[in-house]
Amino acid sequence: MDFLDKRIEDYSQIFSDREPSLLKEIHDYTLQNVPQPRMLSGHLQGRFLSMISKIKRPKKILEIGTYTGYSALCMAEGLDEKGELITIDRDKSLYDKVSEFFNRSEYKNQIIQRLGNALDILSEFDEKFDLVFIDADKKNYKNYFNKVLPMVNPGGIILVDNVLWSGKVIDLEKHKDDKLTKVMDDFNRHIANNDQVTKMILPVRDGITIIIKNEK
Ligand SMILES: C[S@@+](CC[C@H](N)C(=O)[O-])C[C@H]1O[C@@H](n2cnc3c(N)ncnc32)[C@H](O)[C@@H]1O
Repeated sequence: MDFLDKRIEDYSQIFSDREPSLLKEIHDYTLQNVPQPRMLSGHLQGRFLSMISKIKRPKKILEIGTYTGYSALCMAEGLDEKGELITIDRDKSLYDKVSEFFNRSEYKNQIIQRLGNALDILSEFDEKFDLVFIDADKKNYKNYFNKVLPMVNPGGIILVDNVLWSGKVIDLEKHKDDKLTKVMDDFNRHIANNDQVTKMILPVRDGITIIIKNEK
């Protein structure tokens, strides 16, 4: 579900920056060739990811959930010139095509694509990140957040997608047969109760939480 009226979204897109041509190509490729194309961030959310990244100018970005590479390339736009973006996905079938897209971008030497289960790969890391985007399997959101928070520099940003779960989170009783509604509501409560972070839910697209790791 989209919370914005389609005309408002279209208007906002028209008066925001254009979608870069490679991203438009990834968008079209995904729509035509990949299952569940709605998982792709898209123009407006992509410009939002790019904007946050450009404000932060991260040296290290981590993405959990590459899919077809759209959101990774949006965030790469804000990377420090010596910065690096690591993106993780377990879907082998997408890997080569996504590599091809990354290699055609100006960030090809700054993007590291990791194939495998995100929790396993996160366990290998001994580094700090300035910007993290959590956008993979919802049942592991709490695990991802708990694992990633110590790896985020103070003042670093964590973005989390789909936190409003098509609006179902406001009526748990009605959606009690959809396990992920409860999972997402639990996750939102977990974040709301964490005083190590500053947070807000932005009711854009399927809901994005912006989290800042407090300095102290
Ligand atoms: C919603 S899509 C990501 C969309 C992408 N971030 C974008 O905005 O264009 C979720 C991705 O997470 C991946 N994924 C799901 N569970 C995973 C896991 N346990 N480890 C690694 N990747 C996983 C899926 O293969 C899928 O490509």
